[in-house]
Amino acid sequence: MDVLEAIESRRSVFKFKPEPVANDVIERVFSYGRWAQNHHLTEPWRFVVLGPETKETLAKRYAEIQRAKAADDADDLAKQALADAGYAKFYSKPTIVAVSCVQDGDEIKNREDYAAACCAMQNIALAGWAQGVGMQWTTGPVTLETETYKLLGIDQGAEYIIGFMYMGYPEEIKDGSRKELGEVLRYTE
Ligand SMILES: Cc1cc2nc3c(=O)[nH]c(=O)nc-3n(C[C@H](O)[C@H](O)[C@H](O)COP(=O)(O)O)c2cc1C
Repeated sequence: MDVLEAIESRRSVFKFKPEPVANDVIERVFSYGRWAQNHHLTEPWRFVVLGPETKETLAKRYAEIQRAKAADDADDLAKQALADAGYAKFYSKPTIVAVSCVQDGDEIKNREDYAAACCAMQNIALAGWAQGVGMQWTTGPVTLETETYKLLGIDQGAEYIIGFMYMGYPEEIKDGSRKELGEVLRYTE
């Protein structure tokens, strides 16, 4: 698959086959993230591959976040159903990688490093796609909690988790759509 085809055909994947992505494939795919453009060569991206215990802990936390979304008058059974569905949803992601960026500079450096880490995310998504690995970027509440930083060994004062990459082999690929270029591009005099 050439790069242009990968850019156009890549879609976020929400349903995966059960098998996880092997570590050597993860490493190959993430190695392309390192080639993203980044100002002053700060290489601000950091990647943490979740092991089974970490995944289990975060799936339980995800379940509690879902439980808390229940309507005020929901009964225990309904709350438990939400929690169970949340647990199952998180747990169904075969491989999860937390992506963070170093935030140790002034406002401009931090903004540029965030941008560079997002470029790395896109490289990774495209490199994976070209090799049959699908991904979904998530910025859900579980990625933002202090407990998550602690669990992953990420210093919240020095790094920001820009998202989790859910990864695996696609079970389903949805169609995509975008605005016409003319709606987002203009020329000045
Ligand atoms: C910064 C960022 C955060 C995202 N967070 C979520 C998320 O929390 N949940 C989700 O379902 N999708 C999330 N996505 C995926 C988008 O929903 C998805 O890219 C969009 O629907 C376009 O679909 P496509 O990737 O298939 O082209 C995120 C994407 C980006 C770039």
